[in-house]
Amino acid sequence: MAKSNKAKARQPANRLWGGRFKTGPAEAMERINASIGFDQRLWRQDITASRAHCRMLISRKIIPARDGKAILKGLDAVWKEIESGRFHFRTALEDIHMNVEDRLTTLIGDAGGRLHTARSRNDQVATDFRLWVRDAVDGIEARLADLQAALIGRAREHAATIMPGFTHLQTAQPVTFGHHLLAYVEMFGRDRGRMRDARARMNECPLGAAALAGTSFPIDRKMTAKELGFDRPMANSLDAVSDRDFALEFLAAAAIASGHLSRLAEEMVVFSSERFRFLRLSDAFSTGSSIMPQKRNPDGAELVRAKTGRVMGALTALSVVMKGLPLAYSKDMQEDKEPVFEGADTLALTLEVMTGMVADMTVNAEAMRAAADGAFSTATDLADWLVREAGLTFRQAHHVSGRIVRLAEEKNLRLDQVSLADMRSVEPRITKDVFGVLGVERSAASRVSEGGTSPARVRKAIAAAEKRYLGGRRKKAL
Ligand code: ARG
Repeated sequence: MAKSNKAKARQPANRLWGGRFKTGPAEAMERINASIGFDQRLWRQDITASRAHCRMLISRKIIPARDGKAILKGLDAVWKEIESGRFHFRTALEDIHMNVEDRLTTLIGDAGGRLHTARSRNDQVATDFRLWVRDAVDGIEARLADLQAALIGRAREHAATIMPGFTHLQTAQPVTFGHHLLAYVEMFGRDRGRMRDARARMNECPLGAAALAGTSFPIDRKMTAKELGFDRPMANSLDAVSDRDFALEFLAAAAIASGHLSRLAEEMVVFSSERFRFLRLSDAFSTGSSIMPQKRNPDGAELVRAKTGRVMGALTALSVVMKGLPLAYSKDMQEDKEPVFEGADTLALTLEVMTGMVADMTVNAEAMRAAADGAFSTATDLADWLVREAGLTFRQAHHVSGRIVRLAEEKNLRLDQVSLADMRSVEPRITKDVFGVLGVERSAASRVSEGGTSPARVRKAIAAAEKRYLGGRRKKAL
């Protein structure tokens, strides 16, 4: 190790900043310093921002138009090389910015050296990265909308499908499966909102902040901001080069969305298990066991559940990188990219898999209904009836209903199978009308309050969700 470090240390210094240096870096230093292995993903953003910067330098007569044109042509050539996979990325050139600039200068000669006028890698990377995160936000939002469309499609099919609603994972009250799915539509709707909020806040341009203090050249920051689709230049040069809150906000929104995905994935694992049999995940998203031939494992759902750890980890990683950094730029910030790439890639993949699983799953309405029917899920309806029809206070009614449940349990009966005589032995004010509210369909249908589970409400909620979340989108036939 030490030997190779020394050997490398005798390398010539870097041609882009080597004036100050006698020798190049140690081999281990080169490895810890280089980001090209991952930041090459910023190449489109880097060249796009360089084009905007170059056009501004020409228009403000900061560089000769002739050189500017050569730079723009050279950047086109570099773009093509990278796009076609012919570009040779070099670790010795550290990052995407120096790889592009070095190649540009090789292609067009000295004029290439004018591109970096009135700019620093600090405002350059901040700009490139904002552009990348902005695209990632748009991509994630579109995938969230795809998932909502799939959920809404299945909710429409199951607006009246009865299932047990749970609290503490104990049967609570009958709900409709459509209603259950729409709960996730709302969660993913807020996730989209968080993405949009983050986008609006991040859409200011750092370019022109230069290293940290601004520049003495007569640049036009409004021009570059506009060309790059930003709303305005960032107000403070120190802030522009040294905060990564936009990336943190994206990761925070991504972590919350991943948490939602993970909950839905967990339910898929539980609901597709042999004990529940509410759902069957399609072959496309299940796997078999190498030893147990009967097994169908919900690996897709399990991996969606597990990969949440990566996204949440990415948020933690970048939060820790950023805490305690003094103004302005520090090289620590180079560690911003991998967590963001990891978070964005993972969330995109898990959203895609979840959308496929939701669209493909088979729903076992009979098993859902039977489960709802079997666990005294209408005990609250009985209590409510006692309040409404027999004049009991809710507390008294709760007690009476509880005693009738105990009686049913002892006799191994469903609530609606307990005889009227037995019920009246507990509370004489009960009449045969009570049986009208003990069925699971009636129970669900009675929950007509706003946001409630009745099929009529659910159908209205579907129409509202389509309007609110899918807007102009073509309704997916699922
Ligand atoms: N690769 C660097 C990064 O991602 C670019 C900025 C380097 N700036 C510097 N002053 N060394 O952060």
